[in-house]
Amino acid sequence: MTAVAEGLRDVVIGTSTICEVLPSGQLFYRGYNIHDLADHSSFEEVVYLLWHGRLPTLAQLERFKAQLQQEMAFAENVFPLLKLFPKSAPPMDALRTAVSALGMFDADNGIHTPEANLRKSIRLQAAMPVLVAAFERLRQGLEPIKPRPELGIAGNFLYMLRGEEADPLYTRTLDIDFILHADHEINASTFATRVTVATGADIYAGIVSGIGTLSGPKHGAAAEETMRMLLEIGDISQVDAYIRPRLTGEKRIPIPGFGHAVYRAPDPRAQHLREMSRKLGELHNNLKWFEMTTAIEKLVEELSNTPERLAAGKQPIYANVDCFSASCYYVMGFPVHLYTPLFAISRTAGWCAHMMEQIQHQKLIRPRAEYVGPHNLPYIPIAQRENGIH
Ligand SMILES: CC(C)(COP(=O)(O)OP(=O)(O)OC[C@H]1O[C@@H](n2cnc3c(N)ncnc32)[C@H](O)[C@@H]1OP(=O)(O)O)[C@@H](O)C(=O)NCCC(=O)NCCS
Repeated sequence: MTAVAEGLRDVVIGTSTICEVLPSGQLFYRGYNIHDLADHSSFEEVVYLLWHGRLPTLAQLERFKAQLQQEMAFAENVFPLLKLFPKSAPPMDALRTAVSALGMFDADNGIHTPEANLRKSIRLQAAMPVLVAAFERLRQGLEPIKPRPELGIAGNFLYMLRGEEADPLYTRTLDIDFILHADHEINASTFATRVTVATGADIYAGIVSGIGTLSGPKHGAAAEETMRMLLEIGDISQVDAYIRPRLTGEKRIPIPGFGHAVYRAPDPRAQHLREMSRKLGELHNNLKWFEMTTAIEKLVEELSNTPERLAAGKQPIYANVDCFSASCYYVMGFPVHLYTPLFAISRTAGWCAHMMEQIQHQKLIRPRAEYVGPHNLPYIPIAQRENGIH
């Protein structure tokens, strides 16, 4: 057996043509730089790119958008189930359970051809925002709002939450946010989806694994944690007193929205959301959350850029993608419990791309563990066991 790699850190689990994450702070989807995609494309265009491996022509994109639009009502199959959930249920739990049930309504249920998997992916991508918005409305004691598919995934999501068309800056911010979160190579949730379908299980089973894995604070819930931190700090004058002891004190506490398992340089996604956070703050004449986040960013970089850390081969700790998505979401009025479900909507694109690729590989993922427990213990009959020592 090969050496133990705790957390599979830096272990290459296979080849992929979907996404390239470089520790030097670069990110490519299918060979296209994330900066070009964030600046010029739409989320739908990026989903097409991730699934088909090439950018669409105008006609291909229009056809793809029409397919997504046609499937937006599909999620309504599980609205009766959503209505049974407790209003207090964490939205990620509701989403996980709703997607699991939705698979049974899919006309391609049980069919695993590449064509069927693409159709399922389209249905899932169309359904996710509808499910998230509908459960949020139900939680508030309100009826879900029928989608307006022509508004696109981001615009329609905002419409379904509030029943009115959103400010174009909101729609563009959410579109960029979805592009930036769409994929990130073999992150924990994507790995989980690949492990699931590598057994021959269905794509819906893979998405259920992905949602469950994404829900943890070390992964998808980082934006939620970041916003809770900003609210706890409360005011820019309190940033130093809050951050410094957590980074330099005896008991170190990770700062949410900072650091990354792969990047050894600034996360290239953060700069786009930093800019959108500033623009949203200006729109509302309220730069408080943007300024507080940039103050934390400056302090974290400064405190982690020490000669000792650099000598030990460590780099400064930089803001990651979730650092500024928190203030963007907050200024747009999203409740904090919606931040991780928003991530799930966008990451569905990457999950489906990876699952479709994994299914073509046809290889079961089955790593090993190095056993370090006791060996050859004598079996003592139950009636003779005492004091828990046997
Ligand atoms: C994502 C994360 C789990 C990666 O952790 P990791 O793989 O241990 O990262 P690194 O190996 O680069 O860590 C290097 C050092 O920086 C520290 N560090 C990394 N992120 C940190 C953070 N957010 N706050 C404080 N210190 C941090 C680590 O503790 C480590 O220091 P040490 O060697 O003295 O213990 C971690 O950065 C984290 O918990 N971040 C907050 C949660 C978050 O934002 N997640 C979303 C990621 S997109």
